[in-house]
This record gives sequence, C-alpha cells and structure tokens, in this order.
Amino acid sequence: MSSYLTLQVVALTQETPDTVTIHLERPDGQPVVSQPGQFLTLLVPCGPAGARPERRAYSLSSTPAEAPRLSVTVKRVLGGLVSNYLLDNVKVGQTYEVLPPLGNFVVKPSPGAARSLVLIGAGSGITPLMSMLKAVLAQEPRSHVLLIYGNRNENTVIFKQQLAALEASSSGRLQVEYVYSQPLGAVGAHQHTGRLNRTTLLRILEHRHQFPAPQAEYYICGPEGLMTEAQAALELLNVPATRIRRESFVAAADAAEAGDQHGDALAGPDDGTVKTRSVKVQYEGSDYVFEVPPSKTILDAALDLDIDLPYSCQAGLCTACRGKCLSGKVHLDEREGLSDAELAKGYVLTCVAHPLTADVVIEIG
Ligand SMILES: Cc1cc2nc3c(=O)[nH]c(=O)nc-3n(C[C@H](O)[C@H](O)[C@H](O)COP(=O)(O)OP(=O)(O)OC[C@H]3O[C@@H](n4cnc5c(N)ncnc54)[C@H](O)[C@@H]3O)c2cc1C
Ligand code: FES
Repeated sequence: MSSYLTLQVVALTQETPDTVTIHLERPDGQPVVSQPGQFLTLLVPCGPAGARPERRAYSLSSTPAEAPRLSVTVKRVLGGLVSNYLLDNVKVGQTYEVLPPLGNFVVKPSPGAARSLVLIGAGSGITPLMSMLKAVLAQEPRSHVLLIYGNRNENTVIFKQQLAALEASSSGRLQVEYVYSQPLGAVGAHQHTGRLNRTTLLRILEHRHQFPAPQAEYYICGPEGLMTEAQAALELLNVPATRIRRESFVAAADAAEAGDQHGDALAGPDDGTVKTRSVKVQYEGSDYVFEVPPSKTILDAALDLDIDLPYSCQAGLCTACRGKCLSGKVHLDEREGLSDAELAKGYVLTCVAHPLTADVVIEIG
C-alpha cells in the first residue's frame, strides 16, 4: 500500500488557460495497473525545505489502454497551494513520487455489455468521467454514453477537442450536452444556458425519450452544489440509489461542524466524547499504539509520530486511509467517501476519525 512509485513527466497538454494535463510514465516504461475513474496521489514538494511533501489526489484522465502513460488533469484553484504550484512549475523531465492508483469510483468495461451510462460533471469533475467514457466507448461497442457537462463558458471546457472528436467518431454512442452558466456567444444544439441544477438536468434527461434507458447507470463528479442538485433530479426521476455513483473533490463546507450528523462508525447511544485517547492501528504487520488528542484526527496523530500510514486527500473523500474498526467507537467528521454498507461493516477513514472509546483498534490494509 505504501509502495510509492516514481513517475516522470513525459508531456504536458494545456487544456484551457487554467488547466493542464500532466502525462506521466515510469522511467523503466513498465505499465501501472489502473481502472477508469481511479486517481493518483501526487506528493508535491512545494513547502519549505525539509517539510513533508503535500499530497493531493488527481483523477486519471487516461485509460488503462493508454499504458504505460498515466495522465492527470489539474485545474488551478484560486489560492490553492498545490494546483498553483503545479500549473506554474511542472516541466517535462521532472519526477514525482505518487501512490499507486486508488479509488472505487470506477467503471469496469466488459466487451459483452450493452448499457447506458449517464455521466454528469462540471469543471475539473470531468477528469474521471473522461477516463470512463473513453474506456467504455473503446471496449463496449454496444454501450451508450450521455455526458452532461457544466462549465462557465465555451473557453473553460476541458477536453473540448477530444470530446468533439470522440462524439463525431462514435456513431451516436456518445452524446454530449454542454451547460454554460455564462456563455460568451449564442448557444447551439446540445448547448444549454444556466446553472447545471436540477431544472436543467431534468430538462435534458426528460427530453430524451429513447435515452437514457431505464437501467442507466449514473456517475456524478463536481462541486458539492452539483452533487446535491443531481441527486435531487435523479430522485425526482425515481432512479434507485444503487444506480448512482458519485465522487467529491472537495469536502462540504459544513462537514466539520456537522460531524454528528455525518455518523459515528459503530456508534450507539452510549458514545463517549472526543478527548485524548489511546488507539491501536494495525498496518503492514505492525501494531502502533498512540495517543490522539481531541484537536487531531487519528491520521494526524500517527503522522506526527512519523508512522507512515497511507493517505491522500486528508478530507474524508478518497478512501486512501480507509481502515476497519475492529473494536471501540470512532467519530467521523466527514463520511462522503464511505457508502452506508461500508459504514455498517465498521470501515472508517483515519483522516477524519476521532476515537470515542478507550478500546479503539483499527486494521488498515
Ligand atoms: C478523489 C479526488 C480526485 C481529484 N481529482 C482532481 C482532478 O482530476 N483534477 C483537479 O484539478 N483536482 C482534483 N481533485 C482536487 C485536488 O486533490 C486538490 O484538492 C485541488 O487541486 C486543490 O488543491 P490545492 O492545494 O491547490 O488547494 P488547497 O490549498 O488544498 O485548498 C485551497 C482552498 O480551495 C478549496 N478547494 C480545494 N479543491 C477545490 C476544488 N477542486 N474546487 C474549488 N475549491 C477547492 C479548499 O477547500 C480550500 O479552501 C481531486 C480530489 C479528490 C479527493
Ligand atoms: S486520505 Fe482521503 S479519505 Fe482519508
């Protein structure tokens, strides 16, 4: 799990003025196993000398068929530490340490499948969807993909040319509906003006009589507002929750304050309180026992002691730090990355976890 890879930047593609695709390969040219929709964790040494490198998750916009190349597409975030550093400093020939591809927001293409995928994304949320749609179009000749893609205007569309080329060569198997909140010019066919909210989504989805098929699978990736709106639209269309998959890049603004509503793993009515407690973490054959003060998460406390536990986003979104709570109770500040089924089985995310009882044992791996 903690086996870091070193990847070299072999090419760069400027997608929009504030978005670049970084193409990476192992220096020995060996492929790295990945699935469409997974992300890489880049370790970026952008802090002061001697500081631990910053880690950020970036979804793969490439597909496994493009191996040995792995591509990530980074959009500049206003005031953001790593995205700005990468946009301003990345160069062909540099090397970066990364964690191997991770994540469960994936499609598994199967040549015999004949399915409908509806991909809903906005801004940089296109990246995992791009990987998925390329893989499905290439490997599932009888499947159809509808992409609903929101952007501020025509100039901020990431992968604009690639999408146009894929759509043109797909014999109708890929259809893209663009939604612009502030279009620069008059909008044409398959272009919509306004916010990518539930009204727009319902208008697009309800006006398609043949497609999406009733059994469509829905994948959503974008800012929190889009997630909420898409979820609401799909509920109104009676799409079962089991056919909806979602990935967030940013924790909800109120996640930390709303902790108690986000759930306590293995919680019952007699929960303890968040105070300094000892926990045991079992990882790669070792037992680590350490104290977690209330101001720290279990992951933070471990990293302070140089215990090299796995992690990426540190925001409860990506599951890189996932472990199973074997005993005791744990409070999670954020649970976006875990399904209800995972929570019920006792899975926790150490980056947002605080021990609530004295007997917490977490197994990672
Ligand atoms: C599973 C996963 C996959 C991801 N894939 C991609 C990807 O393919 N492409 C990509 O560009 N980013 C992606 N991200 C987001 C990425 O990891 C970083 O969070 C992002 O680049 C910002 O990092 P930063 O250091 O520049 O900003 P920070 O210094 O960490 O944050 C600065 C401020 O910006 C806010 N912020 C952070 N991210 C965003 C965002 N995406 N939009 C708006 N505000 C934000 C923060 O809440 C904070 O207030 C992904 C995140 C996750 C969890
Ligand atoms: S490090 Fe991403 S969920 Fe914990």
